[in-house]
Amino acid sequence: MLYFSSCEKLFHFGEAYSDTVPMSTRTLQSLARPREPQSFQDSPLSQAMRQPLMLGVFLPLQTGGWSQSTLPRGTDWSYAYNLELTRAAEELGFELAFGLSQWLPKGGFGGATHYRYNFLDPFVSAVALAAATRSILLFGTIHILYGWHPMHLAKFLATADHISGGRFGANIVTGYAASEPPMFGLLRPEHDRRYEMAEEFMAICEDLWAGDDNLSFSGEHYTLEGAYVSPRPTFGRPLLVSASGSPAGFAYAGRHSDLVFTSSPAGERYEDAVAALPAQVDAIKQAARKQGREVKVLINPTIVSRPTRKEAEEYYHAIMEHADLESIANFTGRHSAGDSQSWLEHSARGRAVGGHVHLVGSPDEIVTQLGGLHDAGIDGVQITFYDYLPELAFMGEEILPRLERAGLRLPTPATVA
Ligand SMILES: Cc1cc2nc3c(=O)[nH]c(=O)nc-3n(C[C@H](O)[C@H](O)[C@H](O)COP(=O)(O)O)c2cc1C
Repeated sequence: MLYFSSCEKLFHFGEAYSDTVPMSTRTLQSLARPREPQSFQDSPLSQAMRQPLMLGVFLPLQTGGWSQSTLPRGTDWSYAYNLELTRAAEELGFELAFGLSQWLPKGGFGGATHYRYNFLDPFVSAVALAAATRSILLFGTIHILYGWHPMHLAKFLATADHISGGRFGANIVTGYAASEPPMFGLLRPEHDRRYEMAEEFMAICEDLWAGDDNLSFSGEHYTLEGAYVSPRPTFGRPLLVSASGSPAGFAYAGRHSDLVFTSSPAGERYEDAVAALPAQVDAIKQAARKQGREVKVLINPTIVSRPTRKEAEEYYHAIMEHADLESIANFTGRHSAGDSQSWLEHSARGRAVGGHVHLVGSPDEIVTQLGGLHDAGIDGVQITFYDYLPELAFMGEEILPRLERAGLRLPTPATVA
């Protein structure tokens, strides 16, 4: 303690510095709340939200992306590949690019594909991508309960917010996997308890982005004394996303998130997903409305499209026939050892294609299916492809113009990376 106070004095040049902490300790209920990015008309988030159906790319920052199949393809986890992909998506007018996070032991999920053996950190990658793009929103996933303190997140996100000009967001996850917390020397708290911890964590961050003064706070899980974060985020606070299929997760999202990812409550078949989604989407949006807020709901489809339905189905079946069953068994084993309330109905073999719902067909059929998701209440899609770069290009040529004609997309100005 002595060491730190003497260092602070050595490096202090400003008027406002104080090495005593006179302010009163705040309670959870009295913490300040920032303005929301969607309340600024010109914020990047508000611009993205004007699209009837927002488009995002779920980045393959990890070996094998989202698909556990050995069918040959060019998808690659490298930063160079992800940069090219993000820029291509931005040029097509996509609003979002997003990276997931898992903490895996040596070998990832193994199998013939060495699924997720290499895994770039999504937060660091998204910051780098923000510096290399101009309009697309970038999201990195962060397990906030794995040793982070709210000061770290508040400061790092405020910095990423300034680097990106208000385009940076965090996907806040609480960690469902049983094998992850021990990597950090931690025990995993019970499912709903984790969301309570996340609630306190994020309420503190929000005060650090918006409060008038240094923050002293002593809560159930976190303590701060004389804490302050500057510069303040450009549009009230950085963008916040969360991903959940549970009531506790919806309640957290309703209070803090701008965008909520959900999975299909009925498995990956399109027909089952669109039938089950309206109730799920409604529950998420109602949880936000109880807080006087509005959230947008996103889902993650994998799009498998070819010029004709026959070709698309042949391609889909070829991916499935090359399923990497060993890595799929390891993946589903890890998932069922966890306590996630998402993906409960997804089939093991469907993991060969990946994603929360499979959209298969000609460009016209894909537009019909995307329209069906939109009718089910979905505001945006975070898309995965089997072979990302060529399939994104195909989407740009064949699917995007049809989406505009169908009224699901407004024309976007071309951007230069
Ligand atoms: C679209 C989507 C993306 C997710 N991304 C991640 C991720 O990158 N890392 C992670 O640990 N969990 C991720 N999750 C899991 C959720 O954060 C959450 O832990 C899980 O759904 C369990 O919470 P729940 O029981 O509230 O559904 C994701 C979930 C969804 C639906």
